[in-house]
Amino acid sequence: MNRPADAVLRTLRAHAEAAAARAHVPYTQTPEGALLLLSDGTYVPGVRVESATFSLLIPPLLGALTTATAAGRRDVVAAVMPRPLTADEALLVRQALDGPFDATADGTALRTTAALPPVGERLDPRLPGAPPADDAAGLRWAREVAERAHVPDSNFPVGCVLETTDGAFLPGVNVEHPDWARILCAERTVLSTALTYGLTPKRLYLTCLRDDNGSPCGACRQLLVEHAPGLPVVMDRGAAPPEHTTPGQLLPGAFSGDALTTPLA
Ligand code: THU
Repeated sequence: MNRPADAVLRTLRAHAEAAAARAHVPYTQTPEGALLLLSDGTYVPGVRVESATFSLLIPPLLGALTTATAAGRRDVVAAVMPRPLTADEALLVRQALDGPFDATADGTALRTTAALPPVGERLDPRLPGAPPADDAAGLRWAREVAERAHVPDSNFPVGCVLETTDGAFLPGVNVEHPDWARILCAERTVLSTALTYGLTPKRLYLTCLRDDNGSPCGACRQLLVEHAPGLPVVMDRGAAPPEHTTPGQLLPGAFSGDALTTPLA
């Protein structure tokens, strides 16, 4: 294999380790980060996001892949974790790279057979442009973002724009894989991006382009209620006025997991 220079691998691994600081791991206290390298050297971090439900865990590589997709980037050339990849992670990486890959001897980095670009800047996921003047403008933005959805199985693009407290606007789309258990909806994609970049949700604009009655699925309601129960959510209703709700209203009586944080004896 055409092994990249150790210095490049060290840099990539250091970025993956640094990303772990933003992991949301209240149940295991085992922070994990990962990164994807894009063809121009831009790198995309992802972090482990645990859910009180455990099974709705967002693994770091999946977080990075969905962040990249929502930013309109699918040109992944390498995937890096600071430890050997599990079989499940290797499968995800194979799909992300859209073809075969090589593993380094210790299994911590993967790449295509093409030479790696020099490592450049961290992906800036923020949407450029002025803040939306009103809900209609926010939803128009979400509809544009939905064009980036990766939906080979459903052909059902979903797009959202998350305003954060520092005035940023982040894109979210649904990202599908042959393994449906690993599909992330637009809402969980954007939440994971916000956590990875240390940004706090303020307002969410959401569109299911092909369904004027679209609404967050149960899994997204759970993740959103854990992180932002009072988040104003503006839902696209097509020609009708948008609907306003919050995760707390969408999932009354949600499982909080409060009792779970007590360390096991
Ligand atoms: N989906 C979302 O992205 N958000 C929702 O609120 C509903 C469903 C996605 C998941 C899957 O890619 C496709 O839509 C069909 O369920």
